[in-house]
Amino acid sequence: MLKMTKVHLIGLLLLLLAFPMSSFSTESSGAAVMAPFKSVETNVQEESELNQGRHEILFIMGIILLVFIFATSAFGLALGIYGKNVFVPHMIFAGVSVFLTVAHAVTAVVWFYPY
Ligand code: HEM
Repeated sequence: MLKMTKVHLIGLLLLLLAFPMSSFSTESSGAAVMAPFKSVETNVQEESELNQGRHEILFIMGIILLVFIFATSAFGLALGIYGKNVFVPHMIFAGVSVFLTVAHAVTAVVWFYPY
């Protein structure tokens, strides 16, 4: 017959006490403590990704704007210096340049002011 000694009883008691403690394992409680910080981290990451996309859009707008400014200047020089008949293209490129300048400036202020 199995004989229960005092040591057996204490051992059994310790086992019963230790079992529920496993639900407080360091891993899950640690994860719970870190959860709010993780969500802050994700927000910061999401924001920087959003800003990166906006920077790209403004960068492309800026390049297109530069191309139009250079074309306007080229037509202006052709008009003024070489007497070419390119007044209408000069006006069209000038108009689009002004439109793009305003759009670029408004977009940049709306997205990034004050930084
Ligand atoms: C290097 C750059 C430029 C040069 C050399 C230049 C040259 C000229 C010249 C010679 C005229 C007179 C055309 C004529 O009356 O037959 C003119 C007119 C005009 N330019 Fe430019 N241009 C330049 C850039 C620009 C830019 C960037 C804009 C606007 C975004 C612009 C807008 C205009 C406008 C609105 C007129 C008509 C003015 C009027 O007839 O009273 N130009 N340009």
